[in-house]
Amino acid sequence: MPGKKVCIVGSGNWGSAIAKIIGHNVKGSNRFEPVVKMWVFEEMINDRKLTEIINTEHENVKYLPGHKLPKNVVAVPEIVEAMAGADIFIFVIPHQFIGKLCDQMKPHIKPGAFGISLIKGIDEGPDGLRLISEIIREKLEIEVCVLMGANIASEVADEKFCETTIGAKNMQNGHIFKELLQTPNFRISVVEESDTVELCGALKNIVAVGAGFCDGLGFGDNTKAAVIRLGLMEMVAFTRVFCQGEVTSATFLESCGGSGPHHHLLRRPQPASGRGLRQDLQVHRGAGD
Ligand SMILES: NC(=O)c1ccc[n+]([C@@H]2O[C@H](COP(=O)([O-])OP(=O)(O)OC[C@H]3O[C@@H](n4cnc5c(N)ncnc54)[C@H](O)[C@@H]3O)[C@@H](O)[C@H]2O)c1
Repeated sequence: MPGKKVCIVGSGNWGSAIAKIIGHNVKGSNRFEPVVKMWVFEEMINDRKLTEIINTEHENVKYLPGHKLPKNVVAVPEIVEAMAGADIFIFVIPHQFIGKLCDQMKPHIKPGAFGISLIKGIDEGPDGLRLISEIIREKLEIEVCVLMGANIASEVADEKFCETTIGAKNMQNGHIFKELLQTPNFRISVVEESDTVELCGALKNIVAVGAGFCDGLGFGDNTKAAVIRLGLMEMVAFTRVFCQGEVTSATFLESCGGSGPHHHLLRRPQPASGRGLRQDLQVHRGAGD
């Protein structure tokens, strides 16, 4: 049986870090095709196209400088060309662009294709709050898993040890993604409560920002620990109200849940100045991921 064709939809900081893993993993597996297309939102860098730089220097010099991408990861600026014949999609773009991109993709989706969303956030539209995976599912009519964890892209690219969680309504697909994405230093657990995993990914960042405020305002670690604990309780309460399906406490103990805010607890407090607070918030714009 021919290997499954993988397409990475996105090529920012996280997309490039994940492309590094996927490029290596497909080479060692006969379940996947050895060439991986990566859709790149084209931009000019010093008069050169970013796709051209990636395909010649094998480095995303803007979003993940200092890391070589495997040569079997091919940057493509046109989404229709990038997705041609793809069986598996990795969605990894900032959430505000996903709806429009899915509309462009819809007429070209191969029957039986499925995907995974690495996108953090919740969409707010006229009908209220919606999960990003739900938007992809609805627009493309495909099965969608999610991947969320305490995963700062640059650390993952540096191959520093971390954990992450795949939420899979279809466990078989979840395990295919585990095979595609896991490495000795990027450990994946697969759970069925996909919506809980996705909400954890978004909500933990809010708690982490609250923890950042504690540092910026010069509060102590005891206060910060309380903010984190209360935040986790609110994450559980919100998820139980929001989700239709089962929401179990165990899912919050996976990497997608508690580890984000605790990222912060382990950090040194910043000085209680405006500058400290600003720095801290900047850290958390990245660290929240
Ligand atoms: N960076 C991390 O450490 C990290 C970790 C986990 C999850 N995430 C999540 O991954 C997703 C992607 O984040 P990132 O950090 O890779 O992004 P990024 O901020 O590094 O890059 C932004 C990307 O958006 C693209 N872009 C700009 N304008 C666009 C447009 N009009 N249409 C489509 N794409 C456009 C850019 O080309 C670039 O690839 C986010 O949901 C983020 O929360 C990030």
